[in-house]
Amino acid sequence: MLDPRVLRTLVAEASLAPSVHNIQPTRWRPEDGRVVVTADPARRLPIGDPEGRDVAVSHGCAVEGFRIAAASQGLAVEVAPDGSDVAVLTLKGVAEVDPLAAFVGARRTYRGRFEASPSARDACARLAETCPDLVMLQEQEAIADLAALYDDASLRWFRRADYRAELVSWMRLSRRHADWARDGLNAEAMAMSPLEAAGAGLVLRPGVFEALDKVGLARALVAEAPVVRSATAVALFHRPADEPPFETGRRFYRVWLAFTQAGLSASPMAVLADDEAASASLRAEHGLGLDRRLITAFRLGLAPASRQPPKPRLPLESLILV
Ligand SMILES: Cc1cc2nc3c(=O)[nH]c(=O)nc-3n(C[C@H](O)[C@H](O)[C@H](O)COP(=O)(O)O)c2cc1C
Repeated sequence: MLDPRVLRTLVAEASLAPSVHNIQPTRWRPEDGRVVVTADPARRLPIGDPEGRDVAVSHGCAVEGFRIAAASQGLAVEVAPDGSDVAVLTLKGVAEVDPLAAFVGARRTYRGRFEASPSARDACARLAETCPDLVMLQEQEAIADLAALYDDASLRWFRRADYRAELVSWMRLSRRHADWARDGLNAEAMAMSPLEAAGAGLVLRPGVFEALDKVGLARALVAEAPVVRSATAVALFHRPADEPPFETGRRFYRVWLAFTQAGLSASPMAVLADDEAASASLRAEHGLGLDRRLITAFRLGLAPASRQPPKPRLPLESLILV
């Protein structure tokens, strides 16, 4: 029998893991002394993530978060991926505290501008040496090229009205939104002022975006190049092509915690992997063979000390199924 208080502690910590658009799709059901991990069927992204890869990566992040939390309680977790559910977790044996556990509370997606920092540069160089699944771009020119590639790819996706509608459904552009502090992407987390948030809501509307695009304004409105160019480095995160996305998610979270451990803030730029042209260009330029899959590109750097983005999360009651 798993103590319900322990389960609550472990799920609370697991829920701090990243998830795509902060949809928080992972649910936890205690059963016969084990924990069955399931997916909330209502929390998917059929347009942006039709194969459910990013959702599966998000489950992997959450389960890795659960494992790290259990280890802090001295408990080892056996993770068995499961065909019908996401995974079945069995707590057995003794575990040592995970060195990344100390960084779970501080990890955030930071979407603002970075500060120039020699220590961040050193940290990125060290990570490049220790993480074989990262290609670290540190040259200013390479980062600027990637920033342009990112804006091109973003524009291609934003031109799809169905993609915009799905994204907007997860945006919380005003504090009055009922789910502002619960899930999705709120304006503060997206580093938008209230005015910018109101503007984004307008620009992304059907008809408005197309009209702005016709007069050549859409690109500038979705452009993030200045923020990307402020990064100390961009890390291309790649994994074996045949790795199940759930396993990729477990590594995804550990890599991100390692960034936090190194004093770096990060933001993924998934569109660089999702957009065929951008992904093909990056793969060719950086010699990623067919045996590797580009998972995402993280922009990395030092965030100003005062800019700690919020962490909207669902209450535990909706994550633990009884
Ligand atoms: C698979 C995956 C893909 C993501 N892609 C993006 C992305 O393209 N752009 C972005 O800004 N954040 C991206 N994120 C970050 C999530 O939006 C973020 O984890 C979520 O909003 C929760 O916020 P937190 O990371 O600060 O806890 C991604 C996260 C995951 C797990």
